[in-house]
Amino acid sequence: MKIVVFNGSPRADGNTAGLLQAALAGMPADAQVQVIDLYSLLPMPCTACGCCKTQDTCMFSDLSETDVLLRRADAFIWALPVYNYSVPAPVKALLDRFQRYYELKERGEEVFADCKRPALLLLTAGRTGLYAVDIIKKQLDNAGRYVGFVLSDTVFAAETDKTAPQDAVLKAAAEAGMRLCQNTQVGYEK
Ligand SMILES: Cc1cc2nc3c(=O)[nH]c(=O)nc-3n(C[C@H](O)[C@H](O)[C@H](O)COP(=O)(O)O)c2cc1C
Repeated sequence: MKIVVFNGSPRADGNTAGLLQAALAGMPADAQVQVIDLYSLLPMPCTACGCCKTQDTCMFSDLSETDVLLRRADAFIWALPVYNYSVPAPVKALLDRFQRYYELKERGEEVFADCKRPALLLLTAGRTGLYAVDIIKKQLDNAGRYVGFVLSDTVFAAETDKTAPQDAVLKAAAEAGMRLCQNTQVGYEK
């Protein structure tokens, strides 16, 4: 079972990392987890060059390995902190670069047709997450339509400016990690 994690936090020991560790701890030993650290990758922002309008390619090559992982994954985890009611900048850059798959779908050449791989959202916010949770879920729902995933579960840790994610949220993350594996069909590859 191949699980691809998009880690959108720059802090290795932060709140988001804590939720992610809890979710991964709940997974069976045969889960092959590949973490894409978006603050290391720093995807180039989409420049709307139009290159992907006519061909299955991008003018930037920095997401070549990510593209291979996307096409092989059986399931996904998005581990994200809320920044300004949205996702952090490198995550937004990645979502914009998914335009390539939107264009494929527009041309009727989509690689992820009818593909509904499960995705778990782990989200942390310093405050209540008002608006942000809905905004981020909408952003991921939209991306999932082109990239072949469906948000199957969300675990949200609020008020992290006051306190790190509490035991109940960490337990919910562990259970969600387990559920993700149970709901995953193994062997997806494009
Ligand atoms: C640049 C920046 C913007 C933020 N914007 C918001 C926000 O709009 N709403 C909110 O509730 N928290 C906001 N926060 C707080 C983070 O969401 C929160 O501290 C989160 O748990 C950080 O995750 P981390 O520990 O993995 O870095 C912001 C933090 C930073 C650094």
